Amino acid sequence: MTSGISIHCLETLVAPDQLQQLGEVLVDCVDGGASVSFMAGLSMARALAFWQQVAQQVQQGERALLVAQDASGHIVGTVQLALSQPDNQPHRADVNKLLVHRCARQRGVGEALMRAAEDLARARGKTLLVLDTASDAAERLYLRTGWLMCGHIPCFALMPDGSPTGTTILYKPLTISAPGP
Ligand SMILES: CC(C)(COP(=O)(O)OP(=O)(O)OC[C@H]1O[C@@H](n2cnc3c(N)ncnc32)[C@H](O)[C@@H]1OP(=O)(O)O)[C@@H](O)C(=O)NCCC(=O)NCCS
Repeated sequence: MTSGISIHCLETLVAPDQLQQLGEVLVDCVDGGASVSFMAGLSMARALAFWQQVAQQVQQGERALLVAQDASGHIVGTVQLALSQPDNQPHRADVNKLLVHRCARQRGVGEALMRAAEDLARARGKTLLVLDTASDAAERLYLRTGWLMCGHIPCFALMPDGSPTGTTILYKPLTISAPGP
């Protein structure tokens, strides 16, 4: 585990101070130029509205929300698993919004969040994960942790500054280890 960082799954209630800290992580990532659904100048109010929606889905069991907390309990990173899928894809989950605050990057927090998300997916009986990314740093992380690339769609979305960006689709089959003898 990354020193001083612990990963937690917020499975039911997301507390107001946690929503605020998640909002700060999202705003920081967008301010840093990440293509994560929002355009430049994302307000805290809009970020909070986004996380409130996520919190509702967490409460309904549709989504799992993982957070990375520093030694003082402050949230510095997050990732989500979209667990609720169509009836014919119960074995699949999508990975959404891997975000690490710029103050906590390049210390293994992103990788720790992804490994925890994979463990949680396995524990929920999921055998296939899917995601897409417009980030070179994230793509490197996924490829070094066993994700497989399907392809690249050019001009898929906009960067926060309005310039077009492509997205890369990746998947990871999960093995579920058999119980020991
Ligand atoms: C992509 C992102 C989540 C990565 O988070 P992170 O916490 O920096 O990830 P890691 O620390 O696990 O890995 C990042 C790099 O640090 C390196 N690293 C990890 N631990 C390290 C350490 N202790 N010392 C030095 N380098 C280290 C990794 O090898 C990796 O190197 P690389 O970029 O050359 O491949 C982060 O950059 C981010 O939030 N970006 C903006 C949002 C975004 O685009 N998200 C992706 C959505 S799909």
